[in-house]
Amino acid sequence: MNSMGSVVGESESFKHFEFDDTLKLLSDSSTLKAIPSKFNFPNDRTAFTTDSIPIIDFSALVGGDPHQRSKAVHDLATACRDWSFFILVNHGVPERLMSEMFREMVEFFNLADSERKQYEAKSASDPIKCGNFSVANTSNQSFTLWREYLKLYVHPNFHCPHQPQFLRDVVQEYTHMIRVLAKKLIEAVCEALELNQREVDEMLKMESSFQLLATNYYPRCPQPDQAIGIPPHTDAGLFTLLIHNGVAGLQIEHDGKWFNVDSPKNSILVNVADQLEIFTNGRCKSLKHRAVLNEERDRISIVLANGPSGEAVIGPAAALVEKDGGPKYYAMKYEDYVESQLTKSRIDGKSMLEKLMI
Ligand code: OGA
Ligand code: NI
Repeated sequence: MNSMGSVVGESESFKHFEFDDTLKLLSDSSTLKAIPSKFNFPNDRTAFTTDSIPIIDFSALVGGDPHQRSKAVHDLATACRDWSFFILVNHGVPERLMSEMFREMVEFFNLADSERKQYEAKSASDPIKCGNFSVANTSNQSFTLWREYLKLYVHPNFHCPHQPQFLRDVVQEYTHMIRVLAKKLIEAVCEALELNQREVDEMLKMESSFQLLATNYYPRCPQPDQAIGIPPHTDAGLFTLLIHNGVAGLQIEHDGKWFNVDSPKNSILVNVADQLEIFTNGRCKSLKHRAVLNEERDRISIVLANGPSGEAVIGPAAALVEKDGGPKYYAMKYEDYVESQLTKSRIDGKSMLEKLMI
């Protein structure tokens, strides 16, 4: 995500992106037998299944029992270190609110073209934008992702389309709850690392945390091995929190292998993002992940990239630098990090995170 852009770092061997000018490009996908060539991106979506993905019980983290809390803090830190990923349960976000998010988003994608046209992406840093997205690989071949998206900057300034009618209220309520969750998760990680909470607050400035909402709509795809939803990337921010409509498609990298994520209903999927890797001086690694396609069903994911403040200059925490005998990353203002991801061509194939490694 980006302060300004895609949740998607769209990094790796992918460089600059451009927007497609057609909205609803994929609306006929249910009748297509083969994908149009502009989407052609042959890929191997084989992945392992595992039941070892960590599950974190949020109620234990915030409940009053100190013994339970310290165990939950420990489990969370272990999950961030070993998997960079976990499934959050008992998080307190009402099922009702999650369903409303999906309902409103589906309504948004079903608005008449003329209505949605006004939100079509014009520049990378528009606080409201929707459309399709093209990326180019290092051999300069360009292809369009099999996905439509709506991206909104929701904090510290709230941006949201006025249509459909209930979208704004629902988005406001949901993103607020997720922001509170994300902050608690960050505090717990910092506690596990024995960081001074006051210094953490001063560095991350979470009261003005930059939060970006991305809704990804992946229509069913007649040839799921010949197109991709989102290629492998890491997210900008501290923690990304994702929910989906029950159709699998998120794959995560662990020990050099790809894994499917099978998650219980109403759980929230959480991954470590770039700024948490930097801030923890590499103790938590930013998760590489991708979205693959489904032949039978449309998939929707609602993704919140929770960053520090755009004004915050993020480098490794001082206490960790001291312990490690030096920083492993250069510091950078978060706003600039996001901006540079959007505007610089990645022809050298290096992500911004890699560029900041010392
Ligand atoms: C993203 C992302 C995965 C998904 O939006 O950055 O990784 O499952 N999405 O939609
Ligand atoms: Ni992502």
